Amino acid sequence: MKVYSEANSVREHINTWKAKGEKIVLVPTMGHLHQGHASLIKLAKTLGQRVLVSIFVNPLQFNQQSDFTDYPRTMQSDIEQLRLLHVDAVFTPSAESLYPQGIHLAPKIFIPELAEEFDGHYRPGHFEGVCTVVCKLFNILTPDIAVFGNKDYQQLLIIRRMTYELNFNIDIIAGTTVRESDGLAMSSRNTHLNSQQRAIAKLLYTSLNQVESQFSSDNISLLEDSARSQLEQVGMKVEYFSIRDAINLQPIDNTTKKAVVLVAAWLGDTRLIDNTLFPLP
Ligand code: PAJ
Repeated sequence: MKVYSEANSVREHINTWKAKGEKIVLVPTMGHLHQGHASLIKLAKTLGQRVLVSIFVNPLQFNQQSDFTDYPRTMQSDIEQLRLLHVDAVFTPSAESLYPQGIHLAPKIFIPELAEEFDGHYRPGHFEGVCTVVCKLFNILTPDIAVFGNKDYQQLLIIRRMTYELNFNIDIIAGTTVRESDGLAMSSRNTHLNSQQRAIAKLLYTSLNQVESQFSSDNISLLEDSARSQLEQVGMKVEYFSIRDAINLQPIDNTTKKAVVLVAAWLGDTRLIDNTLFPLP
């Protein structure tokens, strides 16, 4: 497994794969890898001949400087894990190489509608940063397929839309969310939780499951309100708890075939997001 920090050298390696007609699958990450990332890599291995992982803590997508500074960085152990997973190559660019003019002068890609609500509203600029960096990775690494997690469901939809609108010839494949044994979705940010917060955090998933089991199209706002107040009662600060159409994140109507429940909540200084998807009859 080779580790590249230069765009030109990783491209040369990729060209040798392309010359042999091998299908290249990209898994973009910000590192501090956990089993959620590993599951995407295992899925990637089933989709093509070569798996490429990028690790880059993207300054452009952090709307709070402290979140960027405190984001866990564990490059050496990440690379060891990727070796054990038999990844073909790793791309670890520097911020200077991706943003040669600095982040303020970097172009920003905005996806109307999908990126306006939820995390787009509460983390201004976040999705512009995500889209810009993913677009750069797509241009540098030219994968055939890219794998993203359902865990960041709004991000997944936005990247799909960007890929389509910007004419990338890349298939976007979604991986299921990997959870701890009590249901908490794995996340690099979970390491910030103390033991008391960690015990409470599982209630996020409990609340999502409750909505799924109690759902009917005439009690949507009731379910949203009661889930929100249950989470607030255990000490979370809920930003949003919404039941929407899973295709476009619009309110559910009689054309909706699949619903998504989206939640974002603060537990102390840690922001957690999660979601669940279920079909409607
Ligand atoms: P990061 O948070 O490192 O996540 C990388 C990928 O792993 C994303 O596609 C995310 O949805 C997926 N993922 C995270 N937790 C998961 C879990 N518990 N189960 C399954 N998949 C999970 O998302 C980003 O990085 C960045 O925004 C990025 C797309 C790399 C752009 O910078």
